[in-house]
Amino acid sequence: MTRPVLLDVDTGIDDALALMLAVRHPDLDVRGVTCVAGNTSVDQVVRNTLTVLDAAGAVHVPVARGAERPLLAASRDASHVHGQDGLGDLGLPYSTRQPVDVHAVELMRQQLLVSSTPVTVIGLAPLTNLALLLRTYPEAAAMIERIVVMGGSASVGNATPVAEFNVWHDPEAAAIVFSADLPVTMYGLDVFYQVAVDGDDAAKLAVSADAGTSLIGRLLSGQVDNSRSEDRLLPGTATLGDAGAVCAVADPAGLVTESLPVRVSLEGEETRGQTIVDRRSRAGESDLLGRVAAPRIDVALEVDAARYRRMFLDVACQGVV
Ligand code: RIB
Ligand code: CA
Repeated sequence: MTRPVLLDVDTGIDDALALMLAVRHPDLDVRGVTCVAGNTSVDQVVRNTLTVLDAAGAVHVPVARGAERPLLAASRDASHVHGQDGLGDLGLPYSTRQPVDVHAVELMRQQLLVSSTPVTVIGLAPLTNLALLLRTYPEAAAMIERIVVMGGSASVGNATPVAEFNVWHDPEAAAIVFSADLPVTMYGLDVFYQVAVDGDDAAKLAVSADAGTSLIGRLLSGQVDNSRSEDRLLPGTATLGDAGAVCAVADPAGLVTESLPVRVSLEGEETRGQTIVDRRSRAGESDLLGRVAAPRIDVALEVDAARYRRMFLDVACQGVV
């Protein structure tokens, strides 16, 4: 029995890895992909997403354009990580296909309401589209099995010392999703960097005759050099990033999570976008004085990196290495 999924992306190099794995995994049924501004502009995200799906041979998967900017904040990109075009500036020929002619929120609503079984929503980007869906069509939430979010951190940030990029980009949207009274998994930076591939394997992938595998290899090879200063990565490796969240949907047993209260900080130049994960074993004075409890979500604290790396190489890259 395949699991129906919807992906929300800001393609992005690691979103591309996640897309390749999701559409090639035999246990996942990708019902649609929605695009949002994040790593690059939403129109560039649409172009990149269609291009990646072409390389994967997944030309049947509907793609929709979503939010051009966060709910409140200004849009900021991550071109220093993903390149000006969001796909490592490889000069890839863009897909000639077009997105569907409905907004991302409409595509998500349609796919949720038409599904005969509950759908897992995988958020790999700022959560603007998902927040708009929950506010615009709350009835659609009834068909959501779980929201698995690549986002947040129970420890150190990346966009700021304490905030992870997807949550930092649209903290209000993240707060809406995390408090939606739905099962939510936070696949954050505490596991994000552990699932990685080394440069030698990336180089072998890059020369594959399979277009999807070759694209993965070229994207990862470019990231190996670009991420040398990231001390959460072993030297000479590149993180699979968002693809790890797809692994967690396909194989939850590879992830250790704990149900914890998580609050998204919306205030303060230094703390805005921080996911404040409460790991205390008992209430403190502020709680005893009436502080409103934060929503509990399943926070990923450990990951079987070798297990997920093997899945990615076997499924997304057809076992080339
Ligand atoms: O912080 C990492 C996240 O931000 C990933 O989803 C990456 O693609 C960017 O969107
Ligand atoms: Ca992303």
